[in-house]
Amino acid sequence: MNVIVVKNAAEGGKKGAEIFMTAWQNGAKVYGLATGSTPLTTYAELCSSAIDFRKCTSVNLDEYVGLGPDDEQSYAYFMQKHLFNQKPFAHSYIPNGLAPDLAKEVAHYDQIIADHPVDLQILGIGRNGHIGFNEPGTPFDSTTHEVQLTQSTIDANSRFFANEADVPRSALSMGMASIMQAHQILLEAYGDAKADAIAKAIEGPVTEDVPASILQRHPNVTIIIDEAAAQKL
Ligand code: GLP
Repeated sequence: MNVIVVKNAAEGGKKGAEIFMTAWQNGAKVYGLATGSTPLTTYAELCSSAIDFRKCTSVNLDEYVGLGPDDEQSYAYFMQKHLFNQKPFAHSYIPNGLAPDLAKEVAHYDQIIADHPVDLQILGIGRNGHIGFNEPGTPFDSTTHEVQLTQSTIDANSRFFANEADVPRSALSMGMASIMQAHQILLEAYGDAKADAIAKAIEGPVTEDVPASILQRHPNVTIIIDEAAAQKL
């Protein structure tokens, strides 16, 4: 793992965007994308860069069940606002949280991932070490699935909603095995609240109890963290 410690999220965003730019210049065509506050500085840097995704494909990690692209809290809305409006892709895939048959949607999304192997995957990390919405205990061989969110994730994500009760209780997420298939992975984390998860992910045992620890087994991972997130290393 290549660990880069930066001063803050602004500096991390510049480094993150450089990694995207290098991948793009080297011909990367499929980008695995994440939501949450963490990738925002990287997306902002990309928006003001010369990168051109119009011949590329994006595949997002996850989406809340029950929210559609017009809902401001949906991940589809988030991606449109923070990246796609400024930097459109030829095709952008996000799990459909409104699909009437979730089992069918999950199988369909796995097919999309199989048809579009991810060249570069960006990840954030949850306070409990989750990646995508793969909560602690998710099997390492999981593919796309419906996830019941833990209370810790509901609490953490409730800041984006008017009430905690509005936070969806489940989501569709790429699985651990799907994430590990990416050729290159970039994980970013900023702030004190991520320090425990980062220490466990990088230096702890590889265990399903800390989903991000699986990244120790991937051959091409870069981790960008600020000093606050690095304090327990
Ligand atoms: C959510 C998302 C994850 C994200 C995590 C951390 O639960 N599903 O993809 O990495 O939260 O979010 P943030 O970056 O806002 O701290």
